[in-house]
Amino acid sequence: MGLDVAVIDIDPNAPGVCYADKFYEVSTNDISGILAAAENYHPDGIMTLATDMPIRSVASVAEKYKLYAVTPSVAQRATDKIEMIRCFERYDVPHPWFEVITFEEELKDLLLKHSVPFIMKPNDSSGSRGVVLVKDYHEVRDAFLYSKSVSKSGLILVEEYMQGPEVSVEVMTIRGETTILAVTDKLTSGAPFFVEMGHSQPSQLPNETIEKIKEVAIKAVQAIGIDNSPSHVEIIVTEDGPKLVELGARLGGDSITTYLVPLSTGVDMIQACILMALGQIPDIAKKFEKGSAIRYAECKLGVLQKINGVNEALNIPEVKHVEIVKCLGETLTPIRSSSDRVAYVITQADTAQDAIRMCENALGKIKFDIK
Ligand SMILES: Nc1ncnc2c1ncn2[C@@H]1O[C@H](COP(=O)(O)OP(=O)(O)O)[C@@H](O)[C@H]1O
Ligand SMILES: [Mg+2]
Repeated sequence: MGLDVAVIDIDPNAPGVCYADKFYEVSTNDISGILAAAENYHPDGIMTLATDMPIRSVASVAEKYKLYAVTPSVAQRATDKIEMIRCFERYDVPHPWFEVITFEEELKDLLLKHSVPFIMKPNDSSGSRGVVLVKDYHEVRDAFLYSKSVSKSGLILVEEYMQGPEVSVEVMTIRGETTILAVTDKLTSGAPFFVEMGHSQPSQLPNETIEKIKEVAIKAVQAIGIDNSPSHVEIIVTEDGPKLVELGARLGGDSITTYLVPLSTGVDMIQACILMALGQIPDIAKKFEKGSAIRYAECKLGVLQKINGVNEALNIPEVKHVEIVKCLGETLTPIRSSSDRVAYVITQADTAQDAIRMCENALGKIKFDIK
């Protein structure tokens, strides 16, 4: 794109550093450190990809230098699950019932008010860390302590257990105008830890349901006040209609916006976000309609010794990308959060269904030798 680019990362070996014209070794959560870097660099735009908390840093720089991004108060609402759900309540966006608790002593009152099952989660985590389903009264204390161990603030959100298909909605809001680029079907590991194991586009839900999902997603983006930003809105379609899980004022992760949106629509969502951050109005009109999918491997537990079959998987024409996330010699642990996942494949086909099938074919060819 011919841009001069500065990269900010706590890790000097981060993959993006070698592409940068300028590098600042600062944590993306360190707002004052990033403001100091901006003072030195004078950016024309600032953005992050699919991480939640750094949105607060982006918003602070954008406010100070009058750049295009969400405001700090929007960033706050979009990164604190408690503030977010209170905002949904205030603006009538369909959401699960919820309670906020801090101390173990409050569990007794909680159980007098609500019966199991329900969900517990930290207000300030991500990647499904600390999210747990409580199915039985006996599990409440352990679930609370597990969730609390991940919560930086110590606050735990207790929510109605919503059941039904889960989707995410990939959205761009540019100068007050909100456009939906894709509705993505989500596959999770299910109860108790709900780790995302796959995504596919376009959603295979009935059209009428997709229309309702889109309405709820736009309402949620407006309630939080998101503008000049992408959003990733997570929704579960319950018997009472689509309800909000959460949203991010950011691009969807797990390759949803880097790979799946371009493969299913022809829209380069990352380039669009860069242009938007620079104050331009990008072209986000759909170029074609295809299916795309990502599926994560399910592996045995143990030490990863060897991997065979990656080339065979890459030889399938529909396979666009294969990534092994873990290193040889690493111990594979039970999948409790996104960072425990081992490998994934990404495909493009005529339909979402075919794309998923080709992911499964490709994963079948990759052999993990685990001892
Ligand atoms: N109230 C709920 N009902 C049912 N499932 C939920 C609920 N809250 C979270 N989940 C499941 O847990 C996953 C992770 O929760 P989420 O609130 O999105 O946290 P994170 O920030 O870790 O992604 C969701 O994608 C969903 O599958
Ligand atoms: Mg989530």
